[in-house]
Amino acid sequence: KSLALSLPDKQKERVEELRLRVMHPLTVLTLEGELNAAPDGRASLVTAEDLEQMREACRMTRDVLNLMEERIKPGMTTKELDGIAFRFIKGMGAEPSFLGYYGYPASICASVDDMIIHGIPSEDIVIKEGQIVSIDVGVYYNGFHGDAARTFPVGEVSPEKRKLVDVTRECFFCAVNALGEGVPLGDIGHAVQAHAEENGFSVVREYVGHGVGRDMHEDPAVPNFGKRGTGIRLRRGMTIAIEPMINMGTHKIRLLPDGWGVKTQDGMPSAHYENTVAITEDGVEILTL
Ligand code: MF3
Ligand code: CO
Repeated sequence: KSLALSLPDKQKERVEELRLRVMHPLTVLTLEGELNAAPDGRASLVTAEDLEQMREACRMTRDVLNLMEERIKPGMTTKELDGIAFRFIKGMGAEPSFLGYYGYPASICASVDDMIIHGIPSEDIVIKEGQIVSIDVGVYYNGFHGDAARTFPVGEVSPEKRKLVDVTRECFFCAVNALGEGVPLGDIGHAVQAHAEENGFSVVREYVGHGVGRDMHEDPAVPNFGKRGTGIRLRRGMTIAIEPMINMGTHKIRLLPDGWGVKTQDGMPSAHYENTVAITEDGVEILTL
């Protein structure tokens, strides 16, 4: 199940390399960083009843993040946060979506400062005042996944970091304002990219948002960059995770030797903000807020 099959030979090697680190397994970037999104027909659609079920997993996801916000303190480790999330999710009778996903060893991703995403919680990573910590979590319940992330400033942070966190959240809402039935995904990416770059920041190219529902990662891929009028069009019943990953400096990334953690190449901070949303007959519903 790989889009690499339909690509010209010269790109296959690069695609194979990227395949290993792209969040959505079916997403393929060309050499130019343009996206070959999966065809429209492969996105699964939810019914009104499905959505009713899925709302619960999404509310739980939101509750985990609220708990993380309440509990995060200087001096604690990211491993402790992971334990709190794990017990809370299990306590609700739900499952942590990330645990065991392609071998991922935890229930949350905890990404500090220059870690963009997929920071593996560790007892060696002690959270300090002045840092920004991105927490990403997925909850599986009722046969559906919710997926969401926030970046939390710890204590007093620099005005630059504060602005990065605020702009990243705003980027998500720029995407929401552009969302609607029939809207091409390029418009969504464009809205996110424009807001980030107007503020002097950059958007990560190698990792993207995605469809989410019965599986955590489904079609379509939802990039945070793009040209208006390009890509597949949103349809009623699509449930997607929109997740701007915004860097203060270069957009370029570095994959850590653990095969998960993704850092900025220049060591400058990065922020992440994600919600699961549904395209409905009434417009848009943000399920994890
Ligand atoms: N939650 C991430 C996303 O937004 C995926 C995390 S990968 C995992 O798509 F392995 F940690 F689960
Ligand atoms: Co996601």
